[in-house]
Amino acid sequence: MLANKNVLLIVSGGIAAEKIPELISKLTSRGCKIRCILTNSGSKFISTDELTKLTRQPTYQEMFFKNKNDKMEHIYLSREADLILVAPATANIIAKIANGIADDLASTTLLANDKPIFIAPSMNVMMWRNHATQVNIKKILEQRVIPIGPESGLLACGEIGEGRMSEPETIVKYIENYFQKSSDLKSLSGHKIIVTSGPTQEPIDPVRFISNRSSGKQGYLIAHTLSKFGAEVVLISGPTSETYPKDIKIIKVETAEEMLEASISELPSSVFISVAAVSDWRVESVPLNKIKKNKMNEINLTLTRNPDILSCVSKAGSLRPNLVIGFSAETENVIKNSKIKLEEKGCDWIVANDVSDGFGHNTNQVHIITKNNIDAWPKLEKSEVALKLSQLIDNFLEKQNNAT
Ligand code: C5P
Repeated sequence: MLANKNVLLIVSGGIAAEKIPELISKLTSRGCKIRCILTNSGSKFISTDELTKLTRQPTYQEMFFKNKNDKMEHIYLSREADLILVAPATANIIAKIANGIADDLASTTLLANDKPIFIAPSMNVMMWRNHATQVNIKKILEQRVIPIGPESGLLACGEIGEGRMSEPETIVKYIENYFQKSSDLKSLSGHKIIVTSGPTQEPIDPVRFISNRSSGKQGYLIAHTLSKFGAEVVLISGPTSETYPKDIKIIKVETAEEMLEASISELPSSVFISVAAVSDWRVESVPLNKIKKNKMNEINLTLTRNPDILSCVSKAGSLRPNLVIGFSAETENVIKNSKIKLEEKGCDWIVANDVSDGFGHNTNQVHIITKNNIDAWPKLEKSEVALKLSQLIDNFLEKQNNAT
């Protein structure tokens, strides 16, 4: 269950840090890949060198990178992890999580994190029972942070009561259970879902093209999340610089006509999601050779309309998926224009977003527009938009399944 799982282990300053070598060895022997962040007080109990030796991975402690080409550790360390474990978790780091304090690499990573967080508290019994700590524990439960322990017993300070960090074996069991449960959560298995993503490129001649702005990130994250839900995902992608996961079927295309052909040939499917920024026009006649600029100061291109893939799939008769979702990037009148699109293209939902402040951000603020409803979502990470959308699709298919 733990094979190939990435755990980001944050070690804060408690005496229970002496159990960390045992914890790391239990996790790595089950195939887990561990990277550690050490707090300054954690480093009084265990060294970065020791953690690096045990995990065979670099250990991180400093917040600010030395040169501008270094990666932003507080972001990428959590993005690359499947789960974050804080062990031992002192009253101090719990207070930081509860109150959004980010004053070192560990707490900043926890604040910038998009993964489940487990904490294994470790402190004196009075610190644990202190009203402030208990308020903080309540707060972190609301943030869906999962505490493991603490246990009762003889504490390092000689007092007796709650505050002992759970044994490494117990912590490993919790983590195993978590991964077991999430692998059982394959509620979309048996459903094929087609996702189009990225821009299309329409050639002007063999070396030039016209295209749309699109990173392909949102489409890729949707495909990835749906595949985690157990769906058989086909991602039809225009040219992007995203690295696509190997467990998803990818069909790489360049033009709108190629994207249409790939989309139709993959039908039937349960769901079709058109995230791609399809070029509305293509050059009517593309010469075989490169157009030589020295022969002309001006060039007139005759553009012809590309097929609308979303409309074609929405109107595919018996091949029409049960749920067809379009995206709508607008710079003005977002809702009004998107409602018109929903009607004209014949899809079921439109995910509308305002792109007046540009492209390529990691966040998205969208409205989910259906025939009878408009739901405004807050500004979210693109990965969270993908998760919420996948949950919505899952609910829709489950309801439909129950109705038949
Ligand atoms: O018409 P507009 O481009 O604003 O519509 C956006 C939606 O339609 C997106 O879901 C996009 O993927 C889809 N679309 C398409 N084929 C086109 C143009 C847009 O599938 N030729």
